[in-house]
Amino acid sequence: MQEELNKIVAGVREKAPQIATRAEFESYKATISGPKGSLTEVMKGMGKVPKEDKPAMGKLINEAKTAVTAEFKAVVERLEAAELAAKLGPDIDPSLPSPDLNRGTIHPIAQVRDEMVNLFRRIGFSVAEATEVETEHYCFDALNIPSDHPARDMQDSYYLPEELKVGNVSKHVDEKYLLRTHTSTVQIRTMLEEEPPIRIVAPGRCFRRDTPDATHSANFHQIEGLYVDKDVSLMDLKATLDHFVKTIFGPKAKTRLRPSFFPFTEPSFEMDFFSPDLGKLSNKWLEIMGCGMVDPEVFKAVNIDPDVYTGYAFGMGIERIAMILQGVDDIRYYYQNDVRFLKQFA
Ligand code: PHE
Repeated sequence: MQEELNKIVAGVREKAPQIATRAEFESYKATISGPKGSLTEVMKGMGKVPKEDKPAMGKLINEAKTAVTAEFKAVVERLEAAELAAKLGPDIDPSLPSPDLNRGTIHPIAQVRDEMVNLFRRIGFSVAEATEVETEHYCFDALNIPSDHPARDMQDSYYLPEELKVGNVSKHVDEKYLLRTHTSTVQIRTMLEEEPPIRIVAPGRCFRRDTPDATHSANFHQIEGLYVDKDVSLMDLKATLDHFVKTIFGPKAKTRLRPSFFPFTEPSFEMDFFSPDLGKLSNKWLEIMGCGMVDPEVFKAVNIDPDVYTGYAFGMGIERIAMILQGVDDIRYYYQNDVRFLKQFA
């Protein structure tokens, strides 16, 4: 049997390179591995092999099969290449790169988003997501945003028609739906799903009814951060943000927190930074995010005991960071899909 197999493999090795057409290949292949092919016949003979010889024979047959398959594969590849060359004619070499190769690149906003997310991942944050269509409850109420807050006005946010229901949200189906105005919604959804300790960043798209100008777009991106555990303090927030700024804008950058107000953090701050290496923007305090300690009212809305846990949250516009980093002075460039603009960040 072994001899038989060796003969078959040797025969295939000799014949395969001479095959010139597909028809020839198919009929030759049938004589080897077709129902009455020589290799098939050998395999059929396995039944008569004594039991103790079966493993060794099986191994030989498999080796022969592998060798034959490789030869056949090479024939098909050779024939296909020849067919393509015949179709293209002698002047075209399909293995050369295309002369007008227009490869896409990562969008500049996505580049900055990824850089920020990776930075936070390295210090123990994981990435969380939630929907862009939200209920008023998750966008506002659970975040302690009062009913007379301007963002709740139809003029300031994009509301969906009331008969629209989204996803499998069942608790608040009577509520109004809108496109989320900030990524702070992810704070609520994460805290409802996970037990502390929670350490997440949530990059995503947000929507506000702004009139587009150099610094406003109705559709923009934010990245949210949330850290909830026992004994999380303002010092943790400040250290984390300091690390963020120094990593993104360079070790000479400085940060400061300025008192501010958000309904879902107490105390609340705006964080500014300052860098001597920012071209036109050097040596000026630039405001880049809102932040603060999670308000106890927010913890109550998600059934976390504010006497046991504390936390910090921050949120910033990705476009704002990108514009500073990339020296872009009009936010609208990011959405026009002008290749001349995009190529500069390739
Ligand atoms: N959600 C706030 C905004 O869009 C930013 C923020 C997030 C502030 C988290 C504090 C904490 O302006």
